[in-house]
Amino acid sequence: VVQKDYTGRRVLVTAGGTREPIDPVRFIGNRSSGKQGVAIAAAAAARGAHVTLIGANLEVPVAASMEVLRVGSAQELAEATLRAAKDADLVIMAAAVADYRPATVVEEKIAKESQGDRLTLELVRNPDILATLGERRADSQVIVGFAAETEPDDERLRERARAKLARKGCDFLVVNRVGWSEGFGTDDNTVAMLDKGGDIVLETSGTKSSVADRILDILQFQNST
Ligand code: C5P
Repeated sequence: VVQKDYTGRRVLVTAGGTREPIDPVRFIGNRSSGKQGVAIAAAAAARGAHVTLIGANLEVPVAASMEVLRVGSAQELAEATLRAAKDADLVIMAAAVADYRPATVVEEKIAKESQGDRLTLELVRNPDILATLGERRADSQVIVGFAAETEPDDERLRERARAKLARKGCDFLVVNRVGWSEGFGTDDNTVAMLDKGGDIVLETSGTKSSVADRILDILQFQNST
């Protein structure tokens, strides 16, 4: 029996990976499948939450138990997330957002005949959605970020996490440590979750669905009233 411990909570989850258009047929993307974010959204819905999922190019199906908004690029994800976050008690930013996008989107497909042997793409920084959420949030809103880190040393990892939490103004950071993690696209995951003070509040390994439930177990005690 699933405990309905999220009844009455409004949870916003972003998942997947953004695609930054180069021209009408090409993009710059990443390997995020969306599995971990979708698993968190599904687990929250199963536990009674009202869930909105913003999916960027998801490679996995989504259950009918939640509201789903589909986006492509980081800018689309930013708009949809900032709008939906106004009504959320808990925001979980699991999406892999491109840090940069092409400075201009070419209207017609780029033809090699017009480019020769070398083509240069100029990229510009995308807005940091999480940092913007952190600036705009109501006091009662709980915000959770994700990060892939390669730092092998626990103490230095905690320092990096603390700095990132402060920079982005979020309450928790779920860290996929490269070397622990089975990586993008797989069914399993290994994560550490850190609070604002840099303390590790969770270390868990298993299916993305079980990792989702452990993360929600921690967030259950975060009062959003
Ligand atoms: O700084 P870093 O990319 O490691 O931060 C990762 C976290 O920030 C993730 O939660 C990701 O969804 C979020 N992010 C964002 N907007 C960006 C880049 C990352 O919200 N432009």
